[in-house]
Amino acid sequence: MTTDPHDIEDSNRSASPGVHEVSDPARRQVLRGGFGAAAAAAFGPLAAAADEAPAGSRLGFKAIPPSVADALVVPEGYVAQPLAPWGEPVGVAGAMPAFRFDAGNSAAEQALQMGMHHDGLQYFPLDGSRRGLLAINHEYTDDGLLHLDGLASWSADKVRKAQAAHGMAVIEVELHEGRWRMVRPSRFARRITATTPCAVQGPAAGHRLMRTAADPDGRTVLGTIANCASGMTPWGTCLSGEENWAGYFQGPGEPDADQRRWGLGNDTWYRWSRHDERFDARRHPNEFHRFGWVVEVDPMDPASAPVKRTALGRAAHEGAWVAVTKDGRAVVYSGEDAAFEYIYKFVSRDRIAPAGGGRTAAQANRTLLDHGTLHVARFDADGTGRWLPLVHGQGPLTAANGFADAGEVVIKARQASDLLGATRMDRPEWLAIDQRSGWVYCTLTNNRDRGAPGQPGVDAANPRARNDMGHIIRWKEASDFDATTMRWDHLVLAGDPANERAEARGNVQGDAFGCPDGLMLDARGVLWIQTDIGPTSLNQGEFGRLGNNQMLACDLRSGEVRRFLTGPTHGEITGAAMTPDGSTLFINVQHPGETPRYRGDPAAPRKVSNWPDFRPDGRPRSATVAIRRRDGGAVGT
Ligand code: FEO
Ligand code: CA
Ligand code: CA
Ligand code: CA
Repeated sequence: MTTDPHDIEDSNRSASPGVHEVSDPARRQVLRGGFGAAAAAAFGPLAAAADEAPAGSRLGFKAIPPSVADALVVPEGYVAQPLAPWGEPVGVAGAMPAFRFDAGNSAAEQALQMGMHHDGLQYFPLDGSRRGLLAINHEYTDDGLLHLDGLASWSADKVRKAQAAHGMAVIEVELHEGRWRMVRPSRFARRITATTPCAVQGPAAGHRLMRTAADPDGRTVLGTIANCASGMTPWGTCLSGEENWAGYFQGPGEPDADQRRWGLGNDTWYRWSRHDERFDARRHPNEFHRFGWVVEVDPMDPASAPVKRTALGRAAHEGAWVAVTKDGRAVVYSGEDAAFEYIYKFVSRDRIAPAGGGRTAAQANRTLLDHGTLHVARFDADGTGRWLPLVHGQGPLTAANGFADAGEVVIKARQASDLLGATRMDRPEWLAIDQRSGWVYCTLTNNRDRGAPGQPGVDAANPRARNDMGHIIRWKEASDFDATTMRWDHLVLAGDPANERAEARGNVQGDAFGCPDGLMLDARGVLWIQTDIGPTSLNQGEFGRLGNNQMLACDLRSGEVRRFLTGPTHGEITGAAMTPDGSTLFINVQHPGETPRYRGDPAAPRKVSNWPDFRPDGRPRSATVAIRRRDGGAVGT
């Protein structure tokens, strides 16, 4: 099922480079016409059902069909505007190097520009819903597209440029005559990269396993990497998860048991260790312990150092999301996106402090996440669950079992969770918390190894073998968010009812989807779901009718799921934030044009996608997208 992108390309482009609208009705009609007849038949009944939403549905937009076009498509009446793609200067005064469409920017220039592969994003208001800061994660790089000649002649300069394209960006944006634009220069504009000094706080700060030759105190790490999802705290900071950091390290040929448990081996995906010995764990084994943390950033204070919050545990953190107990303590939920890994919950010891005395709320809570109790989830077959404390000296978490102190428990949170008997999940990704109802939602994106020979079989919480489609689990704590017991069930099993294999059909009520990843609960209680089907599966086999990655809205009252947005070829939809009035939804398109080998061809960079610029000399770029209703109303209503 393919569509020639030239069939649907049109001239609806803004004069400014990097901005391309794809929301006019004529264009959507072309997209619909180009969609395969088989898929249209399969989705016809669902689309009809969506049009006849039950009275009281909170979804006020018309569903869009699946799409295989190299375009970002939104419903009638909406405008989608790409903003801040990879390579745009972030807006540091006097240092705004223009993006070179041949990928010819230097490492120093890249460190002043938007990084690659946008992921989580959060909106921090400066002037309500008209002007604010966006904190954006840059998860990883496609080195085939990042450099003029791709991975050829791999060099220290290429490592430096890749490191500069990782991390986070803080940019200022404003609504001007109905369109969002970057405010440049801005005193808030900054890049955080793989070399930015980050403070270490919590039980692992200064720990012997955190000390290196370059940092004998074990309290300052250069950089944050693999920044995947993010959450906003009630005190105005951003929590960013370090997810697939293990793949940046070169390990020994025969890793020890602890190294193996974290996937360290003699294979490295990013080749950084060839020119930056810090990432050679054979020479600097403790550097490996200094990643895998939740990083807290205060976007309002561009001089502040990011802080690695070790009390939240080390993991392949997708992200971190905060609930507040009735007495004002913070509860941070976090999943670990790896097959058969865990879901965590941290309960702060102290209450959230208000702003005052000349301090912002962020400044008043600089140690809040350093003291408290970390737990890991066990989901039992009877629909109840238990939060198991990771407390040094309790149960099996003793020196005799390899945990000398509280620091070693958080550094080896996986091993500790193994001993506690936590439930091995199908790749936990984003969480969304309904502070009012108490429900917590978590996407489990997929796990094709579930039930495979030698692998764990199905369990009540992860009920499908070869779970290619993923599901969303939810739970409600027994009393308040700090409770140690809960009740859980499944919100939805993703899939396509037209599939033959029972495990790939799912039970979606409405528009079918697969591989849920991003989640956002909006102020009205609508749960927004984003998908991440990988480039080797998209539009093939059991995914053949689902189209490109997309964003859907779930009315939690009726259970109806309705497709809101479809993305460009081989991109993933991730990150979601709304302005306080709901009139703008910001999302990210990550890795448009990603190849099945995960590295673009520098000789043919536009082969898979040319979104969002569609320039004859361009290349696909991850970008933020601002989505508004033409009439200025709240998105989704
Ligand atoms: Fe970075 Fe699990 O997605
Ligand atoms: Ca994700
Ligand atoms: Ca992806
Ligand atoms: Ca994913």
